[in-house]
Amino acid sequence: EPTDAHVPGPRPPGGDRRRSKVAVVGAGAVGSTLAYACLVRGAAREVVLYDVDRARVEAEALDIAHGVAFTPMGTVDGSDDVEICRDADVVAITAGAKQKPGQSRLDLAGATIGIMRDLVPRLVAVAPEATVVMVANPVDVVTYAGLQISGLPATRFFGSGTVLDSSRLRYLVARECGVAVQNVHAYIAGEHGDSEVPLWSSAVIGAVPLLEWGRRTGAEGVLDRAVRERITEEVVSSAYRIIEGKGATNYAIGLAVTRIIEAVLRDERSILPVSTRLEDYLGISGVCLSVPCIVGKDGVLRRLEPDVSDDELAALRRSAEKVRAVSAQFGF
Ligand code: 2OP
Repeated sequence: EPTDAHVPGPRPPGGDRRRSKVAVVGAGAVGSTLAYACLVRGAAREVVLYDVDRARVEAEALDIAHGVAFTPMGTVDGSDDVEICRDADVVAITAGAKQKPGQSRLDLAGATIGIMRDLVPRLVAVAPEATVVMVANPVDVVTYAGLQISGLPATRFFGSGTVLDSSRLRYLVARECGVAVQNVHAYIAGEHGDSEVPLWSSAVIGAVPLLEWGRRTGAEGVLDRAVRERITEEVVSSAYRIIEGKGATNYAIGLAVTRIIEAVLRDERSILPVSTRLEDYLGISGVCLSVPCIVGKDGVLRRLEPDVSDDELAALRRSAEKVRAVSAQFGF
């Protein structure tokens, strides 16, 4: 159960890194890139890839393994046997239906939930202590279903949500203002998909409220309503554009999920907009949706309630309705 109880004080920097095993489920474009990103960033000592396609998973693991001479210490292995995931600290599930050009993420719900009915119980059986990060789309619907299938506490079963969309937003805002992306603190909340909601009201650049940026820097019009609408449109359509051009998105999602995994393995208490089951959050219940959360060793420690405008709140509730309706269609 996600608790809004007291969050204990920080642990020693770095957390417990003596042993860290990440199991990546699915050796497609997203899973393979995620495994690669985990190794390149030194996120885990042991990365394993699991996929039903034996030739594919062994080839991806071998290709990545041949580069470990150039990465921080780590190993990678691949198998079509779920045993390879045994006792993983984090399981990241990327296996699912593939989004074709013109399809929305929600179109994939039935097929991906079908995969989860078989997959999730087998993963929980071999890695019962793991924190599970769902990546497969439509991630909010699949997380909600997967959570119920797993029987795990909601703190330990959440989705990558809008961590990627938020990085897309921060990238575009940073470019617009001519500042480093690391200094843009802005979140996309809601569905990882077409109804997602940029939380402009609470966004900050450096210590300046985003909505005041133009006025305070004398750059009138820089992030005015028209520009914000254009940026929102660009974030929402990013994946469609990339899928149109290259068939899948993989690099940014690989890094975004690596970031989430690091927050868990290092007990960082980083604030990330992951998709978790909401109960009585700004009037929203019974659905998995992204909101800024504190993420650490025990998963989602707390959900934060940012300041939201009336429009943002209404949009967030509409997004919740939309995701809930799709979950309900599949009996969740
Ligand atoms: C993305 O946003 C397709 O959900 C994937 O890149």
